[in-house]
Amino acid sequence: MKTVLITGASGGFGTEFAMQLEQQGYALLLHGRDKARLKLTLDALQYPERHRFVFADLSSRKETEELIDSLAGLELYGLVNNAGFGVWGGFAETECVAQADVLRVDLVAPVMLAHALIPTLKRNQGFMINVSSLAGETPLPYMATYAAVKAGMTFWSEAIRAEHQGELKVVTLAPGPSPTGFRDVSGAPKGKGNGFSTSAAKVVSSSLQTLQAGGGYCVPGWRHKCLWLIQKITPRFISLTIMANYLKK
Ligand SMILES: NC(=O)c1ccc[n+]([C@@H]2O[C@H](COP(=O)([O-])OP(=O)(O)OC[C@H]3O[C@@H](n4cnc5c(N)ncnc54)[C@H](OP(=O)(O)O)[C@@H]3O)[C@@H](O)[C@H]2O)c1
Repeated sequence: MKTVLITGASGGFGTEFAMQLEQQGYALLLHGRDKARLKLTLDALQYPERHRFVFADLSSRKETEELIDSLAGLELYGLVNNAGFGVWGGFAETECVAQADVLRVDLVAPVMLAHALIPTLKRNQGFMINVSSLAGETPLPYMATYAAVKAGMTFWSEAIRAEHQGELKVVTLAPGPSPTGFRDVSGAPKGKGNGFSTSAAKVVSSSLQTLQAGGGYCVPGWRHKCLWLIQKITPRFISLTIMANYLKK
C-alpha cells in the first residue's frame, strides 16, 4: 500500500487530507505534536489500523531532523507539507520568538522534509502537496511575517514543481480563509474575510483534483478564486492601505 506523510494532521486541513487520501486508498503517516489530538483524526478514519503516528515540534530543528531520520528506509509515495500557523498583530508588538517559529514551521521544516524525501518520492513517481496561502500573494499588515513566509512557500514550491516536471507531481495549494483552528491559533480578529470562507473539504478536494491533473498551482473554490483575482488587479499601494485599515483590530 502506498504511504503518504501528512504534517499537521491533528486538525483542520490535515484531518481533511487524512480522510480524503484514505478514501483514495493510501496508508497514512499522521504527523502532529499531541497524541490525543492526532487520535481524534484517527477516529475520523475508516481503517485506523492502516495508519500510524509520527511526532515532532517542527519549530525545533532537532525534532525535525529526528523525524527525518525516523523516515529513512520508508518507501514514501507522498508528502503533504501542511503544518503551519500564523501570528496576528503589529510586527513590533508581537513576540519575536513566535514570529521566528512561523518561519521555522511553515517554511524551514517543509524545505528540510522535501529535501530529504524528494529522492524517494521521485523513485516512486509520487507527489508533494505544499500548503501555502493567498496570504503569500500580497503583503499583509498585521500578519507581516506570515504573509512573507507564505510568499516564500509559494515561490519555493512553484520552483520545485518546475524543476521536477515529469518526475514528481507537485501541488502548490493557496487557499484563502477557511474555518479551521487557524484563526484561534493566530489570534486574528473574528469575522475578517468571512465572505470568502471556503470549507476545508473543498480546499482539500480541489488540491487533490489538481494533483490528479498532474500538479499545479491551486486556488480552491470560486470564493478564493475571486479573492485571488482581487489581489491580482489591485495596485499594491491601494491594497496595503485597505488591508492596514481592515486588519487592524
Ligand atoms: N485556515 C485557513 O484560513 C488557512 C488559509 C490559508 C492557508 N492555511 C494553511 O493551512 C495549513 C493548515 O492549517 P489549518 O488551517 O488546518 O490550521 P489548524 O487547524 O490550526 O492546523 C494546523 C496544524 O499545524 C500543526 N502545527 C502547528 N504548529 C506546529 C508545530 N510547531 N510543529 C508541528 N506541527 C504544528 C498543528 O498541530 P497541533 O495540533 O500540534 O497544534 C495542526 O495540526 C497551514 O499551513 C496554514 O498556514 C490556512
